[in-house]
Amino acid sequence: MVKIANIELGEFPLLLAPMEDVSDPPFRALCKAQGCDMMYTEFISVEGLIRDADKSVAKLDIYDYERPIGIQIFGANLDSMVQAADIVTEANPEVLDINFGCPVKKVVCKGAGAGILQDIPKMVELTKAIVDRTHLPVTVKTRLGWDDNSKYIEEVAERLQDIGIKALSIHGRTRKQMYKGEADWSLIGKIKDNPRIKIPIFGNGDIDSPQKAAAYRDRYGVDGIMIGRAAIGYPWIFREVKHYFATGQLLDPPTVEERVAAAREHLERSIDWKGETLGILEMRRHYTNYFRGLPNIKQYRKVLVSEFDKDALYGTLEEIGEVYGNSAAAVL
Ligand SMILES: Cc1cc2nc3c(=O)[nH]c(=O)nc-3n(C[C@H](O)[C@H](O)[C@H](O)COP(=O)(O)O)c2cc1C
Repeated sequence: MVKIANIELGEFPLLLAPMEDVSDPPFRALCKAQGCDMMYTEFISVEGLIRDADKSVAKLDIYDYERPIGIQIFGANLDSMVQAADIVTEANPEVLDINFGCPVKKVVCKGAGAGILQDIPKMVELTKAIVDRTHLPVTVKTRLGWDDNSKYIEEVAERLQDIGIKALSIHGRTRKQMYKGEADWSLIGKIKDNPRIKIPIFGNGDIDSPQKAAAYRDRYGVDGIMIGRAAIGYPWIFREVKHYFATGQLLDPPTVEERVAAAREHLERSIDWKGETLGILEMRRHYTNYFRGLPNIKQYRKVLVSEFDKDALYGTLEEIGEVYGNSAAAVL
């Protein structure tokens, strides 16, 4: 049984990666329904949180049906981090997660996210301050290092464990790589081979099929796998991986009806949670993935990403179901 502190996550948990503008409550609900064991919010700026910025505060919204869940924060200033830890503690997630991996310039140049990979002592200091401040289990998500010459993740894992974090998720790339090249899990495997390491180590990066999940689980010995991009518009990845682990068989992919139903539910939940205009707008980035591979889907996608009327959108989704549902295209 894998545990973060005393939170039980099953034998080999699948985690949904935190993704800005993606892993909000509507999307998380779909992933949860497909068997995801643990989720995180999008990262939340500590500076936004302590100044009560609407956008940051909204990201604290978590619901009982999604537990266990971690709220993820990013920042670089110790006082702000500690104050934000109080706000997160009040929001009462199972876990407080710290992002030390975001490679985006506007985050890194302030020394936050992956920026901290250039200053490991500071990373340890910030983490310790938060561990000391909250009763919540604290976890960290990070990358291998800043660049090829500074992949200090093995040392980082020990030091963070020593100051009390309860799990570590590692994306097998450096900051410099951004999202380029293939994620390299070999150092993640080495951390798992280190007898001093007792906390769960979750591997992350490029898992996009049940077979790859099984291969990486076996090769690198991780305690669980975190999946990001492969879940966007495809929450079924969680049930597919679980089914493959349990039976060695591949599940059939979702039917067009299931895809339409998921996109519809996602849209409904977006509208419920964000209001009609924003809900419709922010749903636009998801349609391509829900309907990937359907021939001649372009004409429908055009409507989905430009229409503002929700009934027209539901109508278009229904039409996709009717047009493709009974055709050979249903089998992608
Ligand atoms: C659109 C997008 C937004 C992301 N936002 C976050 C974030 O808020 N916090 C974080 O720790 N990582 C973030 N990431 C990184 C992912 O959590 C993950 O580490 C990365 O995508 C690699 O995993 P994957 O290959 O399974 O996608 C983001 C990635 C993407 C694609």
